[in-house]
Amino acid sequence: MSSRISVIGAGYVGLTTSACLAHLGHNVICADIDADKVVSLQNGIIPIVELGLAELVAEGMASGRLSFVVGSVEAAKSCDIAFLCVPTPQGEDGSADLSYVQRAAQEIAAVLPFEAIVVNKSTVPVGSTKVVEKALKRPDVKVVSNPEFLREGSAVQDFLKPDRVVIGSDDQAAAMKVASLYDGLSTRVIITDPASAETIKYAANAFLATKLSFINAIAAICEGVGADINDVVVGMGSDKRIGENFLRPGPGWGGSCFPKDSRALIKIAEDADYSFDLLKGVITVNDQQFDRVVQKVVRSIDGDVSEKTIAVWGLTFKAGTDDLRDSPSIEIVKRLIAKGFRVQGYDPTVTQQKTGIPNDLEISFSPIEVTVNADVLLVLTEWDDFKWISPSTVAISMAGKQIIDARNLLDRKDWERAGFTYQGIGR
Ligand SMILES: NC(=O)c1ccc[n+]([C@@H]2O[C@H](COP(=O)([O-])OP(=O)(O)OC[C@H]3O[C@@H](n4cnc5c(N)ncnc54)[C@H](O)[C@@H]3O)[C@@H](O)[C@H]2O)c1
Repeated sequence: MSSRISVIGAGYVGLTTSACLAHLGHNVICADIDADKVVSLQNGIIPIVELGLAELVAEGMASGRLSFVVGSVEAAKSCDIAFLCVPTPQGEDGSADLSYVQRAAQEIAAVLPFEAIVVNKSTVPVGSTKVVEKALKRPDVKVVSNPEFLREGSAVQDFLKPDRVVIGSDDQAAAMKVASLYDGLSTRVIITDPASAETIKYAANAFLATKLSFINAIAAICEGVGADINDVVVGMGSDKRIGENFLRPGPGWGGSCFPKDSRALIKIAEDADYSFDLLKGVITVNDQQFDRVVQKVVRSIDGDVSEKTIAVWGLTFKAGTDDLRDSPSIEIVKRLIAKGFRVQGYDPTVTQQKTGIPNDLEISFSPIEVTVNADVLLVLTEWDDFKWISPSTVAISMAGKQIIDARNLLDRKDWERAGFTYQGIGR
């Protein structure tokens, strides 16, 4: 059965949720406070890079099931179910800042139809369902937690083919109504209480971050003992209890979720009288990983930083997205600039105008242009395009012949044949 849905927030989660729910047959009004973003969307222009999203938005708009409005009130006044998909950035003490969620709830409180349901899809700490209830002051409106697990870069695929849907509510009827929105998907629906649903989201992200820090630590050991991390990953990951997912070493983890969510979980634990030392260690190892990459660069030019230029391939926190929020690449670039390097960067989705580019980082238009006169080439994001670039073309444009492949993306032998000294991670 189709429902009337409003989605508050047209970002990575809100826009994907809107387009996918419209695809499943629901009538969706998606709202944002950013008027420019809404006008773009109304004109069919998608403000983010996300595979398959533009097609789904176009399909929804053409069917009449998906529309965009400025402001939450306009969207919420005629809905059965309102999804909150607004930011929950890191607050000063590490906890999640709930002010966007509270504000959105307060905005829609007066206009929500009788017995509507509000669904919290933003990542929020345990107890936030109550926070939303308090902000709404509407006893007839039930609040349900429905955390989102999509990954940027494959958001549409993840939404439409999820590993599970988690719904947290103390009200069985409200939980079932939200669960029915996903009827078109063949997946496991886990219905639980709000605190468990909220914990599942943080625990999942913290565990994935732990896997990444763990494999980066093993990679550091591999370098010391002369082992090859790629073989170690295959050997470890073939064990079904472990699996290969999230066991790829890299420059450190980042993005809009893991850093803030792991800090928020440490704070949640603290408030629950538990010191989450394991997760604190995971964050420390990640910070060390950024420095390990910087040290590789410094060592590659024998410690002589003066007048040296570093070309960086990849600035987003992962391939397939244009998102620079808490990107490991940006963090590493900042540390390189602080050391006195001149840094020039290239990313297929990033221009100089994009928010989040450090002041002293020069953005190039092509992966070859960025290497002109560079002493070291540093690969920080795993864009597939980089694999097909000829090392001999790069060799001609660079001043030095050092490559540091922090994603183990490229073929070492090809680069060595072109005269480069190749360093990967953990091999
Ligand atoms: N990005 C991800 O990969 C991802 C995955 C799972 C969960 N989450 C969580 O989902 C939430 C949203 O994340 P995101 O990446 O989509 O954020 P985002 O910053 O991309 O989008 C949030 C949008 O909400 C809008 N907004 C803020 N207040 C509003 C209001 N009162 N009314 C209407 N619009 C409003 C902003 O203008 C923005 O466009 C966060 O809690 C995040 O942790 C994100």
